[in-house]
Amino acid sequence: MQAMYDKVVILTGAGISAESGLGTFRDAQGLWAQHRIEDVATPAGFARNPDLVQAFYNARRAQAALAQPNAAHLALAQLQSSFPGEVILVTQNVDALHEAAGSVSVLHMHGTLAGALCASCNHRWPAPPELSSNSLCPQCHSTAARPDVVWFGEIPYHMDRILSDLETCDLFVAIGTSGQVYPAAGFVDAATAAGAKTIELNLEPSATHSRFDDARFGRASAIVPAWVAELLDERNRD
Ligand code: OAD
Repeated sequence: MQAMYDKVVILTGAGISAESGLGTFRDAQGLWAQHRIEDVATPAGFARNPDLVQAFYNARRAQAALAQPNAAHLALAQLQSSFPGEVILVTQNVDALHEAAGSVSVLHMHGTLAGALCASCNHRWPAPPELSSNSLCPQCHSTAARPDVVWFGEIPYHMDRILSDLETCDLFVAIGTSGQVYPAAGFVDAATAAGAKTIELNLEPSATHSRFDDARFGRASAIVPAWVAELLDERNRD
């Protein structure tokens, strides 16, 4: 007899959007093989060369705008709408493919390409297709517009909410993430400490693989829909 779950926390990473044509970070041809993290994903890099950083995120925003959700995003949206318990979706991704698939209340812990943030007054607004060093904050009119994404050295968004959901969940699932970036890589430990079952769905074992109770390996578009179908079946049988 399978366990019945009431509250599921799902963490997604770049691997879930790979089959939608968006590059991951740490694969051989990944973004971090082509760009230095220090240059494009840190506050110091932005201070040194804002145009380079804006160009990097403008290109990613343009690419993400053309991408379509794949079967894995769609399966998670179906889970959110059909599961009788709670399904909390946390993503490290800055694309909007979960929302495009129909998911709601997605916690974007690393921010989103769709947003602009004023580094001067913290005002947030929908990002235009291109941000530049000349982009004005609509509230304080300073030229301190930046992408509303979280860089290395900054505190991820929604952490209080996420940690409290991990403390009260009974199933934690990590999908398409290499487990190399904290705090997300530590979510499995928080869930385990709360007594939750943990499962990893990934192309290959992640850096945190040994800390999960269970795992499925393969392409997200195949293993995520299969896992969702299984979970919904179990729940309907109980
Ligand atoms: P990574 O690029 O580190 O890891 C992607 C994971 O997805 C790897 O374990 C791949 O094996 C797996 N993968 C690749 N293709 C897949 C597929 N088709 N199906 C399933 N899995 C697949 O990306 P993240 O773990 O998301 O942060 O990276 C975490 C953070 O590091 C990002 O949010 C970003 C980055 O630096 C910031 O920029 C702050």
